[in-house]
Amino acid sequence: MEKLALEAIFFREFYKKPSHFLSVPGRINLIGEHTDYNGGLVLPVAIDLTLNAALKSHTDDTVIVYSDDMQERKEFKIGNIDRASVAQTVAYEKYIKSCLFYLKEKLNCQLGYSIAFKSNIPMGAGLSSSAAFILANLTAGLIANNKAINRELLPFFVQEIENDFMGLSSGIMDPLIICLAKKNHALYYDCDSRLKNYIELPKELGLIVIDTLTKRSLTHSAYNQRHAECMRAAEEVGVKNLSQLTYPKLVGLKNNFSTEVLYNRALHLVQENARVRQSLKELANGNIAAFGALITESHASLRDLFEVSSVELNHAVATVMRSKYCLGARMMGAGFAGCVMAVCNRNQLENLQHETQKAFNAQGKAPKLYAVEARSGFEFSNLR
Ligand code: GLA
Repeated sequence: MEKLALEAIFFREFYKKPSHFLSVPGRINLIGEHTDYNGGLVLPVAIDLTLNAALKSHTDDTVIVYSDDMQERKEFKIGNIDRASVAQTVAYEKYIKSCLFYLKEKLNCQLGYSIAFKSNIPMGAGLSSSAAFILANLTAGLIANNKAINRELLPFFVQEIENDFMGLSSGIMDPLIICLAKKNHALYYDCDSRLKNYIELPKELGLIVIDTLTKRSLTHSAYNQRHAECMRAAEEVGVKNLSQLTYPKLVGLKNNFSTEVLYNRALHLVQENARVRQSLKELANGNIAAFGALITESHASLRDLFEVSSVELNHAVATVMRSKYCLGARMMGAGFAGCVMAVCNRNQLENLQHETQKAFNAQGKAPKLYAVEARSGFEFSNLR
């Protein structure tokens, strides 16, 4: 269905048929927040909110990008893009130019393509819409240039673009899950040892995402500030990264931290990693109430120790938690704005959604609610 609709959009825009279809998921993270760039543990899931694209390669270096969501068309010449022109660009166009520059310089891709996008991943809401957009552009470039697509390597390319061109000191979690996810599974990943393991989700687990519809323009700088604080904290206590600390070791080193803020950042890390480990046990036993309690603890820690929540995120957590069907809730992703996730018993999904929507309506607020399913990583197919 989505494929057909996008083929029609592509035809309308470019007067030709697309050759390939791409589907890139958004993601939630069950637990393990702000741990990835600290060598810690994460447990993300790819979700069925997706960025879809149809494309066809060119025989020259022109790239034409059409976004159906923004009803906007942009044209680029790969040959004209250099580092300076990427640096001078902002926002949406910067993502595209960064990818084109990366494709040209690092992946030896000179040929362009026409591409039409349609997405239902809310933008800038903490569901990894930007990693999805970068991945889609990279994959389109690789397809157009007949290059191999390596799922294991692509996450690192996406992260490099986020870090070096978009100026975000992000970790590997988002690109990793949208590349490697397995349907109905979470991906357990140790960002230090790079050990990974697929965790089958209990059949009874229901997942809800609440988009508070808030955006913060300073998210990038606040995120980078947390990153810098964690690096400094690790240095002050002489460890490679904060995930090397155990709780007793952390407490023993308390006086070595220059400020209480840095100690609190480290305390979040140590306890969040422990919560990820405990979550694995609870999920394996199908104990979703105990898992729910862990994510609620995670929220308190992100709010009080790591200080990346916001009034609106706290309010959304409090609102959904008031429902008897809710087993736990927390802010998700980088924080400061965006989405909250909540868990419940799968057969109570509708009840939880209904009650929460009613509570928000009574407050005159209109966040968006989604019941989400765990899907596989990005997919592409030939349409010919
Ligand atoms: C953003 C980053 C991720 C991760 C999360 C917080 O989504 O892109 O790398 O750090 O924030 O867990």
